[in-house]
Amino acid sequence: MTLGASTGTHAYGEPSYWDQRYRQDTGPFDWYQKYKRLAPLFDLYIRRSHRVLLVGCGNSTLGEDMASDGYLDIVNIDISSVVVEAMRQKCEDKPELKYITMDVRDMSAFESSSFDAVIDKGTLDSLMCGQNAHDNATKMLDEIGRVLKNNGVYILITYGDPNYRMRLLKDTQVWSIAVHVIDRTEKNPEQQRWELTKSVPLNQDNSSITALIGSHAEVHYIYVCIKDETLRRHGDVNGHNEGV
Ligand SMILES: C[S@@+](CC[C@H](N)C(=O)[O-])C[C@H]1O[C@@H](n2cnc3c(N)ncnc32)[C@H](O)[C@@H]1O
Repeated sequence: MTLGASTGTHAYGEPSYWDQRYRQDTGPFDWYQKYKRLAPLFDLYIRRSHRVLLVGCGNSTLGEDMASDGYLDIVNIDISSVVVEAMRQKCEDKPELKYITMDVRDMSAFESSSFDAVIDKGTLDSLMCGQNAHDNATKMLDEIGRVLKNNGVYILITYGDPNYRMRLLKDTQVWSIAVHVIDRTEKNPEQQRWELTKSVPLNQDNSSITALIGSHAEVHYIYVCIKDETLRRHGDVNGHNEGV
Protein backbone atom coordinates (compact mmCIF):
# COMPACT_ATOMS: atom_id res chain seq x y z
CA MET A 1 0.00 0.00 0.00
CA THR A 2 1.29 3.48 -0.83
CA LEU A 3 0.47 6.51 1.24
CA GLY A 4 -1.48 9.01 -0.78
CA ALA A 5 -2.46 6.59 -3.53
CA SER A 6 -5.61 4.77 -2.47
CA THR A 7 -7.29 7.44 -0.34
CA GLY A 8 -7.48 11.21 -0.69
CA THR A 9 -4.03 12.42 0.33
CA HIS A 10 -5.42 14.58 3.13
CA ALA A 11 -6.98 11.64 4.95
CA TYR A 12 -3.65 10.19 6.07
CA GLY A 13 -2.85 13.39 7.94
CA GLU A 14 -6.09 13.29 9.94
CA PRO A 15 -6.31 11.49 13.31
CA SER A 16 -10.00 10.73 12.66
CA TYR A 17 -9.02 8.77 9.54
CA TRP A 18 -6.70 6.53 11.57
CA ASP A 19 -9.23 5.96 14.39
CA GLN A 20 -11.84 4.91 11.85
CA ARG A 21 -9.40 2.71 9.99
CA TYR A 22 -8.20 0.93 13.16
CA ARG A 23 -11.80 0.32 14.27
CA GLN A 24 -12.37 -1.53 10.99
CA ASP A 25 -8.97 -3.15 10.37
CA THR A 26 -7.71 -4.66 13.55
CA GLY A 27 -4.54 -5.88 11.85
CA PRO A 28 -1.74 -6.64 12.32
CA PHE A 29 -0.50 -4.66 9.35
CA ASP A 30 3.00 -3.40 8.59
CA TRP A 31 3.52 -0.54 6.17
CA TYR A 32 6.42 -0.81 3.74
CA GLN A 33 8.68 -3.31 5.48
CA LYS A 34 8.69 -5.82 8.29
CA TYR A 35 11.22 -6.14 11.07
CA LYS A 36 12.86 -9.26 9.64
CA ARG A 37 14.20 -7.37 6.62
CA LEU A 38 15.15 -4.25 8.58
CA ALA A 39 16.89 -6.06 11.46
CA PRO A 40 20.42 -6.05 9.93
CA LEU A 41 20.27 -2.27 9.62
CA PHE A 42 18.92 -1.78 13.14
CA ASP A 43 21.78 -3.95 14.40
CA LEU A 44 24.24 -1.40 13.06
CA TYR A 45 22.76 1.50 14.98
CA ILE A 46 20.73 0.30 17.97
CA ARG A 47 21.78 -1.81 20.94
CA ARG A 48 19.44 -4.20 22.72
CA SER A 49 19.66 -2.13 25.92
CA HIS A 50 18.82 1.17 24.20
CA ARG A 51 15.64 3.07 24.95
CA VAL A 52 13.78 3.08 21.64
CA LEU A 53 10.77 5.16 20.57
CA LEU A 54 8.50 3.96 17.75
CA VAL A 55 6.51 6.95 16.49
CA GLY A 56 3.12 6.26 14.87
CA CYS A 57 3.33 2.56 15.70
CA GLY A 58 -0.14 1.64 14.39
CA ASN A 59 -0.84 -2.09 14.65
CA SER A 60 2.50 -2.99 13.10
CA THR A 61 4.34 -5.92 14.70
CA LEU A 62 7.63 -4.02 14.63
CA GLY A 63 7.73 -3.47 18.40
CA GLU A 64 6.71 -7.04 19.20
CA ASP A 65 9.27 -8.45 16.77
CA MET A 66 12.01 -6.26 18.22
CA ALA A 67 11.08 -7.36 21.74
CA SER A 68 11.20 -11.01 20.64
CA ASP A 69 14.65 -10.32 19.20
CA GLY A 70 15.98 -9.04 22.52
CA TYR A 71 15.28 -5.29 22.59
CA LEU A 72 14.43 -4.44 26.18
CA ASP A 73 12.84 -1.00 26.28
CA ILE A 74 10.50 0.05 23.48
CA VAL A 75 8.04 2.91 23.83
CA ASN A 76 5.33 3.04 21.14
CA ILE A 77 3.22 6.12 20.50
CA ASP A 78 0.35 6.78 18.14
CA ILE A 79 -2.21 9.55 17.79
CA SER A 80 -5.02 6.99 17.51
CA SER A 81 -6.27 5.97 20.94
CA VAL A 82 -8.15 3.14 19.21
CA VAL A 83 -4.99 1.40 18.06
CA VAL A 84 -3.03 2.21 21.21
CA GLU A 85 -5.69 0.59 23.41
CA ALA A 86 -5.81 -2.48 21.15
CA MET A 87 -2.01 -2.84 21.15
CA ARG A 88 -1.82 -2.32 24.91
CA GLN A 89 -4.22 -5.19 25.45
CA LYS A 90 -2.48 -7.39 22.91
CA CYS A 91 0.95 -6.84 24.47
CA GLU A 92 0.05 -6.63 28.15
CA ASP A 93 2.25 -9.65 28.90
CA LYS A 94 5.34 -8.03 27.32
CA PRO A 95 7.12 -5.77 29.82
CA GLU A 96 9.53 -4.53 27.12
CA LEU A 97 6.70 -2.71 25.32
CA LYS A 98 4.76 0.40 26.34
CA TYR A 99 1.94 1.93 24.27
CA ILE A 100 0.94 5.57 24.79
CA THR A 101 -1.54 7.78 22.94
CA MET A 102 0.48 10.82 21.89
CA ASP A 103 0.83 13.27 19.04
CA VAL A 104 4.37 13.10 17.64
CA ARG A 105 4.23 16.88 17.14
CA ASP A 106 3.95 17.39 20.90
CA MET A 107 5.85 14.86 22.97
CA SER A 108 6.16 17.16 25.99
CA ALA A 109 5.40 14.18 28.24
CA PHE A 110 8.91 12.93 27.37
CA GLU A 111 12.02 14.60 28.73
CA SER A 112 14.56 16.04 26.33
CA SER A 113 17.48 13.73 25.47
CA SER A 114 15.70 10.67 26.87
CA PHE A 115 15.81 8.21 23.90
CA ASP A 116 18.73 6.51 22.18
CA ALA A 117 16.77 5.77 19.00
CA VAL A 118 13.57 6.85 17.27
CA ILE A 119 12.10 4.72 14.48
CA ASP A 120 9.56 6.10 12.02
CA LYS A 121 8.02 3.81 9.44
CA GLY A 122 5.44 5.75 7.45
CA THR A 123 4.52 8.39 10.04
CA LEU A 124 6.35 11.40 8.64
CA ASP A 125 4.92 10.29 5.28
CA SER A 126 1.38 10.33 6.62
CA LEU A 127 1.78 13.82 8.11
CA MET A 128 3.14 14.97 4.77
CA CYS A 129 -0.06 13.81 3.07
CA GLY A 130 -2.17 16.11 5.23
CA GLN A 131 -2.96 19.81 5.46
CA ASN A 132 -0.08 22.06 6.59
CA ALA A 133 2.31 19.30 5.68
CA HIS A 134 5.49 21.31 6.02
CA ASP A 135 4.58 22.82 9.41
CA ASN A 136 3.53 19.47 10.79
CA ALA A 137 6.64 17.73 9.50
CA THR A 138 8.82 20.45 11.03
CA LYS A 139 7.09 20.16 14.40
CA MET A 140 7.50 16.39 14.31
CA LEU A 141 11.20 16.53 13.44
CA ASP A 142 11.85 19.22 16.07
CA GLU A 143 10.28 17.01 18.71
CA ILE A 144 12.21 13.96 17.58
CA GLY A 145 15.44 15.96 17.70
CA ARG A 146 14.55 17.16 21.20
CA VAL A 147 13.79 13.74 22.73
CA LEU A 148 16.87 12.10 21.20
CA LYS A 149 20.10 11.99 23.15
CA ASN A 150 23.16 13.46 21.52
CA ASN A 151 24.51 10.75 19.16
CA GLY A 152 21.08 9.13 19.24
CA VAL A 153 19.67 7.91 15.93
CA TYR A 154 16.48 8.73 14.05
CA ILE A 155 15.72 6.01 11.48
CA LEU A 156 13.18 7.17 8.91
CA ILE A 157 11.75 4.49 6.61
CA THR A 158 9.85 6.13 3.77
CA TYR A 159 8.89 6.09 0.12
CA GLY A 160 10.17 9.69 -0.10
CA ASP A 161 13.24 10.15 -2.27
CA PRO A 162 16.11 12.39 -1.19
CA ASN A 163 15.14 15.37 -3.33
CA TYR A 164 12.59 16.54 -0.79
CA ARG A 165 13.29 14.50 2.33
CA MET A 166 16.96 15.56 2.56
CA ARG A 167 16.06 19.23 2.46
CA LEU A 168 13.46 18.78 5.17
CA LEU A 169 15.81 16.80 7.39
CA LYS A 170 18.70 19.22 6.95
CA ASP A 171 16.54 22.28 7.54
CA THR A 172 15.14 21.07 10.84
CA GLN A 173 17.89 19.46 12.87
CA VAL A 174 21.61 19.00 13.34
CA TRP A 175 22.20 15.51 12.12
CA SER A 176 24.71 13.61 10.14
CA ILE A 177 22.69 11.72 7.58
CA ALA A 178 23.30 8.47 5.74
CA VAL A 179 20.86 7.02 3.21
CA HIS A 180 20.22 3.31 2.73
CA VAL A 181 17.85 1.69 0.24
CA ILE A 182 15.86 -1.51 0.25
CA ASP A 183 13.78 -3.12 -2.51
CA ARG A 184 10.07 -2.58 -1.84
CA THR A 185 9.36 -6.26 -2.16
CA GLU A 186 11.49 -9.11 -0.97
CA LYS A 187 13.59 -10.66 -3.72
CA ASN A 188 15.76 -13.75 -4.06
CA PRO A 189 19.29 -12.95 -2.88
CA GLU A 190 20.61 -13.13 -6.47
CA GLN A 191 18.02 -10.60 -7.68
CA GLN A 192 18.61 -8.12 -4.86
CA ARG A 193 20.10 -4.89 -6.15
CA TRP A 194 20.85 -3.09 -2.89
CA GLU A 195 22.84 -4.09 0.10
CA LEU A 196 20.84 -2.73 3.01
CA THR A 197 23.71 -2.30 5.43
CA LYS A 198 25.79 -0.21 3.00
CA SER A 199 24.78 3.43 2.69
CA VAL A 200 24.56 4.94 -0.78
CA PRO A 201 26.92 7.77 -1.76
CA LEU A 202 25.52 11.24 -1.20
CA ASN A 203 26.57 14.47 -2.82
CA GLN A 204 25.36 18.00 -2.12
CA ASP A 205 22.38 18.00 -4.50
CA ASN A 206 21.49 14.27 -4.09
CA SER A 207 22.02 13.65 -7.78
CA SER A 208 24.42 10.80 -6.91
CA ILE A 209 21.50 8.80 -5.52
CA THR A 210 19.23 9.42 -8.48
CA ALA A 211 22.07 8.51 -10.83
CA LEU A 212 22.62 5.24 -9.01
CA ILE A 213 19.04 4.21 -8.36
CA GLY A 214 16.96 6.01 -10.99
CA SER A 215 14.08 8.39 -10.33
CA HIS A 216 11.18 5.91 -10.08
CA ALA A 217 12.93 3.02 -8.43
CA GLU A 218 10.85 0.43 -6.58
CA VAL A 219 12.69 1.04 -3.34
CA HIS A 220 12.11 2.39 0.12
CA TYR A 221 14.62 4.89 1.40
CA ILE A 222 15.98 4.67 4.91
CA TYR A 223 17.47 7.88 6.30
CA VAL A 224 19.72 7.27 9.25
CA CYS A 225 20.09 10.57 11.06
CA ILE A 226 22.51 10.82 13.96
CA LYS A 227 21.99 13.79 16.26
CA ASP A 228 25.27 15.64 16.52
CA GLU A 229 25.43 18.69 18.76
CA THR A 230 29.00 19.43 17.68
CA LEU A 231 27.67 20.41 14.25
CA ARG A 232 25.53 23.08 15.92
CA ARG A 233 28.54 24.40 17.83
CA HIS A 234 30.51 24.61 14.61
CA GLY A 235 27.64 26.50 13.01
CA ASP A 236 27.60 23.84 10.29
CA VAL A 237 23.93 23.09 10.34
CA ASN A 238 22.38 23.30 6.92
CA GLY A 239 23.66 21.20 4.15
CA HIS A 240 27.22 20.35 5.13
CA ASN A 241 26.67 17.35 7.28
CA GLU A 242 25.65 14.52 5.03
CA GLY A 243 27.51 11.45 4.03
CA VAL A 244 28.43 9.93 7.38
C1 LIG B 1 1.33 4.81 7.61
S1 LIG B 1 0.88 4.38 9.22
C2 LIG B 1 2.33 3.52 9.75
C3 LIG B 1 2.06 2.58 10.90
C4 LIG B 1 3.28 1.77 11.37
N1 LIG B 1 4.39 2.63 11.71
C5 LIG B 1 3.73 0.77 10.32
O1 LIG B 1 4.88 0.83 9.91
O2 LIG B 1 2.94 -0.08 9.95
C6 LIG B 1 1.02 5.96 10.04
C7 LIG B 1 0.72 5.92 11.53
O3 LIG B 1 0.98 7.21 12.07
C8 LIG B 1 -0.02 7.53 13.01
N2 LIG B 1 -0.07 8.99 13.09
C9 LIG B 1 -0.56 9.87 12.18
N3 LIG B 1 -0.41 11.13 12.62
C10 LIG B 1 0.21 11.05 13.84
C11 LIG B 1 0.63 12.01 14.81
N4 LIG B 1 0.47 13.32 14.60
N5 LIG B 1 1.20 11.56 15.94
C12 LIG B 1 1.37 10.23 16.17
N6 LIG B 1 0.98 9.27 15.30
C13 LIG B 1 0.41 9.68 14.14
C14 LIG B 1 -1.29 6.91 12.43
O4 LIG B 1 -2.28 6.71 13.41
C15 LIG B 1 -0.72 5.60 11.86
O5 LIG B 1 -0.77 4.57 12.83
